[in-house]
Amino acid sequence: MSSPLPPVPPTRIDFSPEDRAWITECISQVLESGRLTMGPFGEEFERELAAGMNVKHAVTVNSGTASLEIMLRAMNVAGKDVLVPANTFFATAAAVISAGGNPVLMDTDVATLSTSLAEIERRMTAKTVGIMIVHIAGFITAEMPAIAAFAQRKGIWLMEDAAHAQGSTLEGKHAGTFGLAGSFSFYPTKVMTSAEGVVIVTDDDTLANEARIYRDQGKASFLQNTHIRMGYNWRMSEPHAVIGLRHLHNLPSMIANRRRIAAHYDAALGKGNNGLTPVMAPKGCESNYYKYVVMLPEGIDRAAAKKWLRDERGVNCSGEVYEFPLHKHDVLRHLDPGNLTQAEIACGRQLCLPIFASMTDAQADQVIDGVKAAREKGVL
Ligand SMILES: Cc1ncc(COP(=O)(O)O)c(C=O)c1O
Repeated sequence: MSSPLPPVPPTRIDFSPEDRAWITECISQVLESGRLTMGPFGEEFERELAAGMNVKHAVTVNSGTASLEIMLRAMNVAGKDVLVPANTFFATAAAVISAGGNPVLMDTDVATLSTSLAEIERRMTAKTVGIMIVHIAGFITAEMPAIAAFAQRKGIWLMEDAAHAQGSTLEGKHAGTFGLAGSFSFYPTKVMTSAEGVVIVTDDDTLANEARIYRDQGKASFLQNTHIRMGYNWRMSEPHAVIGLRHLHNLPSMIANRRRIAAHYDAALGKGNNGLTPVMAPKGCESNYYKYVVMLPEGIDRAAAKKWLRDERGVNCSGEVYEFPLHKHDVLRHLDPGNLTQAEIACGRQLCLPIFASMTDAQADQVIDGVKAAREKGVL
């Protein structure tokens, strides 16, 4: 059966007519100039990204997967252990493997969807050279400063896969700036997009320089055909930079709207209302609300609940972050160190409600009413 209510999409990628006109005009300038890659728009994009996050260097490349591999190659992780969460996207661990390292999976703190310091301490090995923290759904764990201090004490690096967390802060400090470097993602479903692409941010001159070398075939410089690293073509084109620049200009208002919708959900669904448990922003964290996650009561059939919400109430929930932890995927099963039960709970019991920058209060109300009705029906 199809709902008589207008469908609420799980997410939306918003480019207004003004955005499209600006992008078209800038791409026309790019075509006119003939500088189609690594040109002035890319440089401007990097300048504004660095200024916005208060960091010394911003290095754009062509995907969040590439940026992780670049950072890991620059840190020479070959043959070494890197701690990564079990509750993350494939690329976080795959990049470690591509760079020649061994990902060591860590369990999840269900309250923040992140990793606790205690778990990091538990999973450290003699070969651990670094920690990759992932800010799932846009939440930054309040333990980030303690995790950074721990890494420093142990003489290992801390890096952040902040693919979900563009614009999220903890006590005013931006995601991606707590350790040696941070990587984001401008894939279309993220809070801002450049179609494909990403930025690496760091205050470290050496790492920034290495990233620039790796992204351009490992060449000593853009104009010099001397290959000094095993790099790759990880460059960002000018049309991608133009699209990203426009969304970067819109980022504050896009995040403000997401926060407004999240506050509406929190008020209606938070604090045990309706038996659901929304994942709330940790103390001091201003999330970008890339996702709005609720934990379902035990025993709920998530696929059936999503179908009911869609068919009966026009509410389309997005994919989870994530449906399964990494060790449940065929190609990564060998990484299972045992005892990742909280990651399994976090992945298995979560539901992501629709949220996007142009969402209206009426759409949020439709979602809330749908969730309440689903609870009454016993499907949620
Ligand atoms: C946590 C995380 N890391 C890395 C990536 C990879 O980013 P990209 O799609 O830009 O390669 C993603 C993308 O979904 C992600 O969610």
